[in-house]
Amino acid sequence: MEKHIPVLWDETIEGLNIHKDGIYVDCTLGFGGHSSRILEKLENGHLYGFDQDENALAYAKARLAAISNHFTLIDRNFKYLKEEMTSRGIHAVDGILFDLGVSSVQFDTASRGFSYNYDARLDMRMDERQRLDAYMIVNEWPYAKLVQIITRYGEEKFAKNIARQIEKERQKAPIETTFQLVEIIKQAIPAPARRKGGHPAKRTFQALRIAVNDELNVFHDTLYDALDLLRPGGRIAVITFHSLEDRICKQIFREKTALPDLPAGLPVIPAEMQPAYHLINKKPIEASEAELEANHRAHSAKLRIIERNETNG
Ligand SMILES: C[S@@+](CC[C@H](N)C(=O)[O-])C[C@H]1O[C@@H](n2cnc3c(N)ncnc32)[C@H](O)[C@@H]1O
Repeated sequence: MEKHIPVLWDETIEGLNIHKDGIYVDCTLGFGGHSSRILEKLENGHLYGFDQDENALAYAKARLAAISNHFTLIDRNFKYLKEEMTSRGIHAVDGILFDLGVSSVQFDTASRGFSYNYDARLDMRMDERQRLDAYMIVNEWPYAKLVQIITRYGEEKFAKNIARQIEKERQKAPIETTFQLVEIIKQAIPAPARRKGGHPAKRTFQALRIAVNDELNVFHDTLYDALDLLRPGGRIAVITFHSLEDRICKQIFREKTALPDLPAGLPVIPAEMQPAYHLINKKPIEASEAELEANHRAHSAKLRIIERNETNG
């Protein structure tokens, strides 16, 4: 099996500031790269790992079991973070990690349909138990909804052309495969634009993947839950891979660390008005030259870390 190389590995582990007796949650376990390093640092602590992909869970389980038994795997979408923790009697944790998106293994497994480089049935589900897949979106969603997701989640200027071409083609016969879709996208984008800005299908495939897995809404809502779940001194580390994800993280972190509008002339800011969190790094951490050379996935990666203040919140 192709391997997944963890991104910003040292920086993330250092950023989480792991205590040997702490409780940690990895919301995106994947192949257990980051989690294995967390687990190695725990003595009496415990690690909870979420993934909605059963292949990832099976691999991570074996990798983590070789380190210790201080972990629990949760075979669910991380949108159930709060519910799953509460049901285990856990109301506060020391650290939470989000390493968003799909792993290289998912991306490079042709049959999953994530990549425009392999021919496969249109799928793109991280959780294969889910009903909605890329086939349903491409063949059943109305024109306006296609335009909306391709514009919003793909930031694609030619969203209307692409949606129109999809509508035209699917009237003749269902669009079954990734390669059929790539051809349709190529036909919809004017030739001069097709030669610029990377692979012509890149943005539409990103949009479909985000829509199939409802990635942005799930991340947005769960990040608020994760902030609530942190105990004072606890940290959240988030690794994002595109500007839409990063913007959500940046805005929520900004909202949680900003001072409220204060009455003019206040000599000191009262404790109850201090923000409950502070940023560990003002600017996102990006991969070093050495990491970029070893792992092309690291190119778009951005790591942001926030800590809950000890005194307040
Ligand atoms: C980039 S990989 C994580 C790699 C991991 N940090 C490692 O070092 O091996 C992201 C993983 O998170 C999972 N994932 C993404 N969104 C999820 C969600 N909302 N709920 C549960 N798992 C999710 C994916 O299935 C994938 O396995």
